[in-house]
Amino acid sequence: MRLSARYTSGAIAFHWIMFVLVVAVGALGLLHDSFPKTTQGFWINIHAVMGLLLWALLLARIVWRMRHAPPALPADTGEFSRRVSGPVHFALYALLFVTPIIGVVTFVWHGRVFDFGLFQLDFGVAKNRAIFHPTEDIHQYLAYALFALAGVHALAALWHHFIRHDGVLRRMLPG
Ligand code: HEM
Ligand code: HEM
Repeated sequence: MRLSARYTSGAIAFHWIMFVLVVAVGALGLLHDSFPKTTQGFWINIHAVMGLLLWALLLARIVWRMRHAPPALPADTGEFSRRVSGPVHFALYALLFVTPIIGVVTFVWHGRVFDFGLFQLDFGVAKNRAIFHPTEDIHQYLAYALFALAGVHALAALWHHFIRHDGVLRRMLPG
C-alpha cells in the first residue's frame, strides 16, 4: 500500500466526532415515533440539542477547513474519483448545514421549548401546523439524502481501501 499525505489530526477528529453525532442524531430522529408518547418530547429535545451541537461543530469545522487545505489525492487516483469527490464532500457539508436549520424551524413552530438542562430556551412561538408540517417533511427528506450520500461516500472509501489499495481511507483514519 502506497503512503500518501494525511489529513491533519484536527480534520480527522472533526470527521469522526461528527460521524458519531450524525449516527446518534439520525437514529434518534428515525426512532422518535417508536418511543412511548409520554417520552417523545424528551427524546425530540435530546435529538434537537445534539443536532445543534452537531451544527455548531460544523461551523467550527468549516472555519478550520478554510484554513487547512486537504492533502492532495494520491497520484494514482482515477479521473472519476478526482472529479466526483469534491462535489460529494461539498454536498455533505451542505446537507449537514441545512438539515439542522430546517429542524430548528420544525421544532420551534411546533411550539417546543429547547431544554439544555441548566436552562430553557423558549421562542414563544405558537404551534403552527401550516409551517411545521411541510418543514418536518423537508427535514426528513434532507436527512434521508444525507444518510444516502454518506452511505455512498463510506462505500467509496471502502472501495478505495479494499479494491484500489490506494491509501485514501487510511489518510482519514486516526493513528
Ligand atoms: C444533521 C442533523 C439532523 C439529522 C440527521 C436529523 C434527522 C431527523 C430524522 C431522520 C427525523 C425523523 C423524520 C421522520 O421520520 O419523520 C427527524 C425529525 C425531527 N428533527 Fe431532526 N435531524 C437533525 C437535526 C435536527 C435539529 C438541529 C433539530 C432542532 C433543533 C431537529 C428537529 C427535529 C424535529 C422537531 C423532528 C420531528 C419530530 C416530530 O415528529 O415532532 N433535527 N430528524
Ligand atoms: C455521517 C457520515 C459521514 C459524513 C457526513 C462524512 C463527511 C465527510 C466530508 C465532508 C469529507 C470531506 C473532508 C474535507 O476534505 O473537508 C469526508 C472525507 C472523508 N471521509 Fe467521510 N463522512 C462520513 C462517513 C465516513 C465513513 C463511514 C468513512 C469510511 C468508511 C469515511 C471516509 C472518509 C474518507 C477516507 C475521507 C477523505 C477522502 C479524501 O481523501 O478525499 N467517511 N467525509
